Amino acid sequence: MHTLFPGNDTQIEINDAMIAEYYQKIDLYTKKYKEQITAFCTDLYAYDHYKHYPSEIQADVMTTFKTEKNYNMVVSQSKCDSQFNSEYFKQFIEDSHQLIIPRKLMKKQNINSEYKSLIDSIDEDKAQQTLLFQQYFTQRTANDTIYLDLGAGKGYLSSFLAFDCNQKIVSIEASEKHAISLAKRIYSLTQRNQLYSPIFKYIKDDNFILEPAQHANLKLATAFVDTATDPDVLLHNAFTLKDFVRAQLSKSMEQEHRKHSQIQGKMGISTSQLHQFQKTSNKYTVLGLHACGDLSVTCLRLLSLPNVRSVFTVPCCYPHLTDNSFPLFQFTAKIISNLKTDNNLSTVKLGLPKQLLNYACTGFDEPVENARETVFKFHQRGILEKCRLKNKQVAEKRAFKPGSGTEWVQKCVQEEGENISNQEIKEIEEKCEEIKWAMNAHLIFRQISGQVLESMILVDRLLWMRAQKYQAQIDWCMGGQSGRGFVLWAQKE
Ligand SMILES: C[S@@+](CC[C@H](N)C(=O)[O-])C[C@H]1O[C@@H](n2cnc3c(N)ncnc32)[C@H](O)[C@@H]1O
Repeated sequence: MHTLFPGNDTQIEINDAMIAEYYQKIDLYTKKYKEQITAFCTDLYAYDHYKHYPSEIQADVMTTFKTEKNYNMVVSQSKCDSQFNSEYFKQFIEDSHQLIIPRKLMKKQNINSEYKSLIDSIDEDKAQQTLLFQQYFTQRTANDTIYLDLGAGKGYLSSFLAFDCNQKIVSIEASEKHAISLAKRIYSLTQRNQLYSPIFKYIKDDNFILEPAQHANLKLATAFVDTATDPDVLLHNAFTLKDFVRAQLSKSMEQEHRKHSQIQGKMGISTSQLHQFQKTSNKYTVLGLHACGDLSVTCLRLLSLPNVRSVFTVPCCYPHLTDNSFPLFQFTAKIISNLKTDNNLSTVKLGLPKQLLNYACTGFDEPVENARETVFKFHQRGILEKCRLKNKQVAEKRAFKPGSGTEWVQKCVQEEGENISNQEIKEIEEKCEEIKWAMNAHLIFRQISGQVLESMILVDRLLWMRAQKYQAQIDWCMGGQSGRGFVLWAQKE
């Protein structure tokens, strides 16, 4: 059995010895490979970080990229076969393998033709994710529960549960921009489908007062959820479908994308400002599908409320994490403090190199052609950075439109008020071509250590939940259909 503690097939007993062993291994790993796992593609040639990858791994790196089979074996399964020779490379893969929670490939589901909300205007991947997640949590939830869909986005999960599964659900979205999209989507879904047409009439026509059954299942609110959010208060304050859709459709949508922001557009009301309400005897199940940054941990924390029975969350967008949510478990804090670095890497609020959290968020199932293309782009950016550094000691980090070739490099350098000749660029390109294999190595190390880091974030949450005496488990619930496919499930014992 794998030494790490996912609940993959059966719930296994986690004891102190296993926890100590895990942290000992991750401590060694993060110390041993610190330079490689914090390396950034633009620094690889510019600051000679390529030297972190010993040249003995060159042949193995190139073998990895040769075929789809090799690439999948090394990156997705963290294994090497006899074609791989370097001890260093094999050891890295083996060390990583012991710290990665395994993912399994899952078969695509047939989507029942009656599930209109999973067929009408929805990406196939999104439909699969929604269905697999729903199958996962319904098997583990009592019938009399009321679901809370926190961070509902366009409301795929909420509309599926309410309209197609006849479940009661409160759908909460913090971003006013996303709430408008949610309303628009539900409005057009009801408009186009015979099955939901009574709802459409109900929304549009004041004289049509018969409340459709599917409508009564769903209540919605634009609100920011935090750990003080009370589900009874949410339910009481949430709008009916009719009122919500009408209110949202009359608003205009903010178009601008707020870079690096977890919430797009204007923020909804904080739940602490909502009217309080007398307690009910309702029992709630918290759902957070692709819950970004802190939201996933907020979902888990809500289990401390007496009326929340269980929580299911598929975490994503780790770069949005703040130190309120990571690390949670004391042993992880020690590992993180070792990883904090005072070098020139950009940092997030955690003081961690931002790329660690970015790497944890990688799509780990990418085909080899995508990986080759990524190496090409990284290589171009690496060359540009070395050219930019020609006249400076330290390059100021700046975003550039992606590109390649001498003209592009020259234009980017000139935009910063500097000059570089064609001959100088050519010389740098030639030097970088010789060490391009290290950019391939960088991508492999990043893809693999990213899985170790994502596993560490999940284990941190798992052990913290268990320390609160909850039953908690990590499972892979939507294999192959989503980059972020792990679910963290917790319930009271
Ligand atoms: C990655 S999206 C996922 C949307 C949807 N659950 C899905 O799977 O398609 C995360 C959503 O959570 C919302 N969100 C983030 N933090 C939130 C919070 N504290 N309260 C409510 N919504 C939040 C964001 O605005 C965003 O729409």
